Amino acid sequence: MSSYRSQNGTIPAPLELRDIAIQLGDGSKRILVRSASGVVSGGESVGILGKSGSGKTSLLSVLGLMSRPVSGELLLSGKPTSRLNDAELARRRNQDIGFVFQNYSLISHLSVFENVALPCSYGKPMSKKQTMEAVAEQLQAVGLAGFEKRRPRSLSGGEQQRVAIARALVRSPQIVLADEPTGALDSATGLQVLEHLYSATRRAGACLVVVTHDEDIAQAMDQTWTLCDSELRHEAKGSR
Ligand SMILES: Nc1ncnc2c1ncn2[C@@H]1O[C@H](COP(=O)(O)OP(=O)(O)OP(=O)(O)O)[C@@H](O)[C@H]1O
Ligand SMILES: [Mg+2]
Repeated sequence: MSSYRSQNGTIPAPLELRDIAIQLGDGSKRILVRSASGVVSGGESVGILGKSGSGKTSLLSVLGLMSRPVSGELLLSGKPTSRLNDAELARRRNQDIGFVFQNYSLISHLSVFENVALPCSYGKPMSKKQTMEAVAEQLQAVGLAGFEKRRPRSLSGGEQQRVAIARALVRSPQIVLADEPTGALDSATGLQVLEHLYSATRRAGACLVVVTHDEDIAQAMDQTWTLCDSELRHEAKGSR
């Protein structure tokens, strides 16, 4: 099991992929990813690059326990996940993972506050006071204090994306997975949002995996992985 030194001794990495293969779930049996391996330690970030259609979102959905690989093992904090049933997977997902979807996936009939607060009621619910504080902190951090009562459709694409980021971080998850989180943003706002994701996860000792088309962003992460011809390649780089 891969592990790293923490202040409290040696603890397992939040995310570890062992020879993961991903197949399209449409009956075609097309292999999207052949054998992906990697370890993401607490506080570490990964940028994933790859052409459109190369399987980045599919890989992220496996890392986020939303779909299963056809072979290999995904370990969360050292614990294998392949034998968990759907209910157990959902529990781990709610507890450990914050997800920023490529298309934001905000719920249109809920307010900004209610959207960000959604994960607070999953699994072991947070108290009302904790929820109010956590939502206020996250909205402040993405520059959307005062937007609590607005509906998603009244927001710009970039504002919706920032709501999605606030929602992903509201429960301080151990793993944050973000699919093109800066796609809808101008480059200055995109950089700000990314700095926020990066520093918030690092401060919390969580790991961050970001899918991006932007090579500079991917290179700025601690690790850079590229999906090409169904293989996940790791770029060698020195320490930051
Ligand atoms: N449910 C599905 N049914 C059929 N094909 C699918 C399905 N989901 C994904 N695919 C196909 O699998 C391939 C990988 O899709 P995926 O969304 O993972 O790519 P991606 O790298 O995230 O692309 P993009 O950069 O455009 O977001 C694509 O060819 C896509 O058409
Ligand atoms: Mg995608």
